[in-house]
Amino acid sequence: MPTERVFSGVQPTGNLHLGNYLGAIVNFVKLQDAYNCLYCVVDLHAITVWQEPAELTRNIREVTAAFIASGIDPKKHIVFNQSQVAEHAELAWVFNCVARLGWLNRMTQFKEKAGKDREAASVGLYAYPNLMAADILVYRATHVPVGEDQKQHLELARDIAQKFNNDFSDSIRAHGLDEKFFPQPEPLITGPATRVMSLRDGSKKMSKSDPSDYSRINLTDDADGIAQKIRKAKTDPEPLPSEEKGLEARPEADNLVGIYAALSGRTKADVLREFGGGQFSSFKSTLVDLSVEKLGPIGAEMKKLTQDPAYVDSVLVDGADRARAIAGQTMTSVKDIVGFIRKK
Ligand code: AMP
Ligand code: TRP
Repeated sequence: MPTERVFSGVQPTGNLHLGNYLGAIVNFVKLQDAYNCLYCVVDLHAITVWQEPAELTRNIREVTAAFIASGIDPKKHIVFNQSQVAEHAELAWVFNCVARLGWLNRMTQFKEKAGKDREAASVGLYAYPNLMAADILVYRATHVPVGEDQKQHLELARDIAQKFNNDFSDSIRAHGLDEKFFPQPEPLITGPATRVMSLRDGSKKMSKSDPSDYSRINLTDDADGIAQKIRKAKTDPEPLPSEEKGLEARPEADNLVGIYAALSGRTKADVLREFGGGQFSSFKSTLVDLSVEKLGPIGAEMKKLTQDPAYVDSVLVDGADRARAIAGQTMTSVKDIVGFIRKK
């Protein structure tokens, strides 16, 4: 196996949807052949906004089930929940002292999530990107598959890695460590659906927290639910264009074509060659069939897995043990680099 390492995380905040699947999880599955992968259920990130404890527990198991049901192999790779590996929080504190306020002030996701009443947002929500940088860098991961919305956070992680390497360059050298102690993690934002939009409003991204369940296809939706949501999805009155250029300024059409392309493993151009000139009604029927074919088995497997919480928990414990072995090594070096005293 190559030494390059993949890390990514998904928050256990309920309603895992088609955007999470196509923007992230599908790519997690593909990367298993070429990299050592760690896939993390980021429960520490989840509590940056209030989570009902019993529901959080359920959601951690549900994301784990989605990983496994989608084809992630927890034996060959590492699947775990973040809070079981204390090194994430430990390194995040060091990064809180490396990152600058000015950097965090630019984060658009904080502004969106905090909304108008910024004074009432948790400190954790603000510092969230530093924890995300720690998630990645505590494994010195080199590649991070994510949806488009995480690009800015990845840039911040790169800045933090670079500033740490610079600030501590003398100490890194004095300890005989590689001067590029933290690598520059590369975002992998790939496929025709890196930003899946709401089915009700093509200008908003599909999200777990949208009050309308019709805005998203949940991975746990049954065939009838999927069919209803796609049939009701917003479109425009024009027929489908024959070329990708014709999707410009038609966000709803663009979204449905992107979903079709991603689910079928084709490009948008290819999909339009087949469906261009046709009406949405028949395109939607084909999309319903494809969605049910691809998502149905995943939903069914998720249901089976969540009925066996003992198994799911054992996967997370085993994954956490293996993750900790890697994270612990990094933290040991970080403590030496920063100048802390530790048991030798
Ligand atoms: P989250 O649910 O915020 O933890 O996101 C988990 C992963 O799904 C991240 O890689 C996100 O970038 C990705 N993701 C979330 N929403 C979407 C969306 N609407 N389209 C594409 N990717 C998404
Ligand atoms: N912030 C990511 C999201 O909301 C989740 C996440 C946390 C993550 N830590 C990560 C993604 C590390 C990639 C790498 O989607």
